[in-house]
Amino acid sequence: MAHPERDPNKVCFLTFGCQMNRLDSELAAGRFEEQGIATTPDADRAGTIVINTCSVRKHAEDRALSNLGRFKAAKRRDPHLVLVLMGCMAQREGDRLLARYPYLDVVCGTRRFTDLPRLAERARSAGERIVATDDEHVTIDRKPGLRPEPFRSFVSIMRGCDSFCSYCIVPYVRGRQVSRHPDKVEREVRGLVDDGCVEVTLLGQNVAAYRHDETDLAGLLERLDRVPGLRRLRFITSHPADVSDRLLRAVERLPSVCEHLHMPAQSGADRILSAMNRGYTAEFYRERLGAARESIPGVEIASDFIVGFPGETDADFAATTELLRDGGFNQCFIFKYSPRPGTRAAEMADDVPDAVKKERNQALLDAQDEAARAQNRAKEGREFELLVEGPSKRDPDRLTGRTRGNDIAVFPRPEGPPPQPGEFVTVRITDSTPLTLIAEHVRSG
Ligand code: SAH
Ligand code: SF4
Ligand code: F3S
Repeated sequence: MAHPERDPNKVCFLTFGCQMNRLDSELAAGRFEEQGIATTPDADRAGTIVINTCSVRKHAEDRALSNLGRFKAAKRRDPHLVLVLMGCMAQREGDRLLARYPYLDVVCGTRRFTDLPRLAERARSAGERIVATDDEHVTIDRKPGLRPEPFRSFVSIMRGCDSFCSYCIVPYVRGRQVSRHPDKVEREVRGLVDDGCVEVTLLGQNVAAYRHDETDLAGLLERLDRVPGLRRLRFITSHPADVSDRLLRAVERLPSVCEHLHMPAQSGADRILSAMNRGYTAEFYRERLGAARESIPGVEIASDFIVGFPGETDADFAATTELLRDGGFNQCFIFKYSPRPGTRAAEMADDVPDAVKKERNQALLDAQDEAARAQNRAKEGREFELLVEGPSKRDPDRLTGRTRGNDIAVFPRPEGPPPQPGEFVTVRITDSTPLTLIAEHVRSG
């Protein structure tokens, strides 16, 4: 079978992991575009393939490596193909990856990706094999035009993490917490809004801990709220211990800031929370939930949970289930504990059998399904503002959008010219599933 030609002026990104990685891929893609190298979703034609990796669980690393393996034969056929691993796993493993995968050209860590076009070019023209994982401080300013979606964008406000939750690899692969200067953040947001962006999501591993001199997250939100034309402002993720009343008041008071928090609980058992080094008790978490719901009418809160952490008993798990049921979360991300080499938890015995982890994982998913079903039912009959994302993938006659609370809603395409991605509509909820609100169009604009 003939293989299509590879175009040295095309780069394909395969991105795993969190929003931080998505943003890093976008920023790196922007650097390629500046060099005249366009991004393509077609890995068979790209002259450069970049796999942006995640290390947060072993499964994530396995997926990245099996993707790399897919291109081994392609590299043999076409030695000019440049294969790059970037991101958290690249940072963690460094030159071990080059040794293990002879067909891999470039390993680029979490702080060197803005250099990627140059590194890829060196690999292509000089056949160099390169590891770039040193601690150079990354410049993350970008030209507003270089982004995948015209109407919304991520903006990084801090990099790294200092929380050192005992299970988590992030502080080791992303380095110390550094907050970006508020002037730079504001300049970037203004540039994006001038270029047609209506929604900005501020990103950081723990944005609630943002601080630059006198400016905390509440202060930053206040500044950004004044940018004319910015309709929606979000921020993720917030460590519960850093969610202050001042922040909650800012969310309530500032018109553009969406009534939405992502505040991971991780567990509902104090013993486990302590072993996780989370720095709070279940009661503290419940108090913060209550404070958020009291301060911000209609707030939607998302959470993360880990099941099967070392030493987790049936009673601990029952406490977690209870917290999830009481929490009223609109979304929960549930993970089976995965020991990460080098973390403190990795020294503890991984003593919850995988079968039990699976069972607990499923039980929490079921509990969340039930809770979300009831919450979505309660939204039926009510009206919500949606930011339109485009046609539904499953049914092109319907459009999808998001509420300010970050719920996904679908509605039939109204008569006349269809609302475009980035436009706002008001819909009424007529039906729902645990994950989606079904709606009818009320009015546009
Ligand atoms: N900084 C964010 C996200 C961290 S990673 C935060 O703290 O909220 C996203 C989620 O992955 C975490 O919230 C946690 O629930 C999960 N996670 C992290 N390390 C893990 C591990 N070793 N095993 C299983 N889940 C993990
Ligand atoms: Fe990991 Fe904890 Fe930092 Fe989140 S806050 S990135 S879970 S160490
Ligand atoms: Fe994964 Fe790195 Fe994000 S480990 S979760 S891609 S910060």
